[in-house]
Amino acid sequence: MKLIFWLALIVGFLAVAWRLFDYFYFSNQSYVSSEIRFEPTNVIHPILEKPPMGWNSWNNVRCGPEMNEIVMRQMIDLLVESGMRDVGYRYFNLDDCWQIGRDENGVILADPERFPSGIKALADYAHERGLKFGLYTSGGRLTCMSRPGSYRFEELDAQTYAEWGVDYIKIDWCGIEYLDTYTQYRIWRDAIDKTNRQMILSIAIANIDNQVDKQAWTWGRELVGIWRTAIDLNPFWEDVLRVMDRNSLYAEYSGRGSWNDADMLQVGNGELTLTENKTHFGMWAMMASPLIAGNDLRNMSGEIKEILTHDEIIAINQDKLGMQARLIKEEDGRQVYVKVLSTQGERAVALLNRTDEPQEISVTAEDLGLHSLIKVRNVWERSDLGIRWQTFSQAVQPHEALILRVHGRDKVNLLHYPVMINQLRSGYLLDQEPKTEEGIISFRREGNKRMIVADIFSDVRYNSAANCQVFTTEFFVDPEWADPRAEIRFKVYGDGDLLYRSDFMTIDSALKRVSININKVRVLNLQTSPANSNYNIAQIGTWLNSRVECSN
Ligand code: GAL
Repeated sequence: MKLIFWLALIVGFLAVAWRLFDYFYFSNQSYVSSEIRFEPTNVIHPILEKPPMGWNSWNNVRCGPEMNEIVMRQMIDLLVESGMRDVGYRYFNLDDCWQIGRDENGVILADPERFPSGIKALADYAHERGLKFGLYTSGGRLTCMSRPGSYRFEELDAQTYAEWGVDYIKIDWCGIEYLDTYTQYRIWRDAIDKTNRQMILSIAIANIDNQVDKQAWTWGRELVGIWRTAIDLNPFWEDVLRVMDRNSLYAEYSGRGSWNDADMLQVGNGELTLTENKTHFGMWAMMASPLIAGNDLRNMSGEIKEILTHDEIIAINQDKLGMQARLIKEEDGRQVYVKVLSTQGERAVALLNRTDEPQEISVTAEDLGLHSLIKVRNVWERSDLGIRWQTFSQAVQPHEALILRVHGRDKVNLLHYPVMINQLRSGYLLDQEPKTEEGIISFRREGNKRMIVADIFSDVRYNSAANCQVFTTEFFVDPEWADPRAEIRFKVYGDGDLLYRSDFMTIDSALKRVSININKVRVLNLQTSPANSNYNIAQIGTWLNSRVECSN
């Protein structure tokens, strides 16, 4: 009897001690976001506080005969009936092929065969059902399907869309020659602002690869929008990896108010297996990408619906800190991604097996910037896997991404986490490795002159990893290299936020010198762009003696 009494007392004591420990160790407090990341200085639109979610006609209906108001109304009804609206899919977006021409005043006209009731009627139909309404156009004269685009009609179109009740404008980059992307999308931003209607600006530069002036991730945040990072996603496994890899390259640019867009979801389409569908969805959630479904809602299977409406996966995507997952470990097709969540000590973690064989994948508390004791939850299964000391390891199936929520106690200052390769140290940029460079003619040294010689459009990116405080540089247009007609502007971005932009300079302009505060900046970009995209003359700019002062 006595023994039982003492045992019960000990067990009771241990239980209380654990509860107390649990309470204090696994904090439920939120991070103060400005303390752990570089916050943009410009506006955060409430409508872009979190990555937008919705459905878009393109991936399934395209420009086919079903692109019409009867089918689109069905899709709207199904967004509601399937429960998708209520877990967050708020936007119903009409893609290319709704438009046919312009009236005598230039006002855009809907195709009367496909949309006899007009676009406003469809927008009303969506609004009446608690949805928001999105519409597609192109920044060029033509859309990608050769319908009329918006070039030179930006203000009128923005006004028309506002009158129709549009909430989201996807603006493609087709039907365009020699226009500067930033300039064109700036026109759109201003046109939208002029309407006084809050409409999401979706910068959909699809043909984005290898074209420096199209790097929307560096300037997209200035325009407050979302931007594509890769050419269209197709519904097969290798393509999911292609787009994911590309979108991951630009993780640091995405954040509250402006997001990297890994393209619309192909969940439920094409050749993706069930596992691959889950991986695709899980990784898009991890990357804080907009979640815009594109499957045929009329015959969505139960399994696909379960994927698309998984509340805990969606919660990772919508987490209010707004951080995109970073790749922190990689070995032979086994990858670990981490997304810092808004609760202190909490991380979403993906263990991704890219190979065709099962693989054991592990992650340590150290990798996650946490002290050794961690709690682990399997998110898809909605099951707690318990407490671990230092390491978590599990067999992951081919093409599977095991998504975990790991909770522990911060060991590092998150401003410097995850640690990035090639971190800048105090000194000249010329003596250090950039993260990426495009359009750079040469990195050269002549005596004590250290030069980064840049072609017509250029972008060179360094990891400052919030360790550096000041960037100083000189720049000029060198008559020895550049054409007398060259007109170049020099720009400095910190995490996609414009920190400095020079006027256009020619060979006659005096050398300029600037000193810029880069405190808390994780990625520093130096860019040049010309006044006009004339590739036939040498439009070359030179950065001189660029250097950083850092605390390491
Ligand atoms: C592509 C774009 C697609 C779709 C299509 C319409 O360029 O990336 O998402 O909008 O145009 O023509």
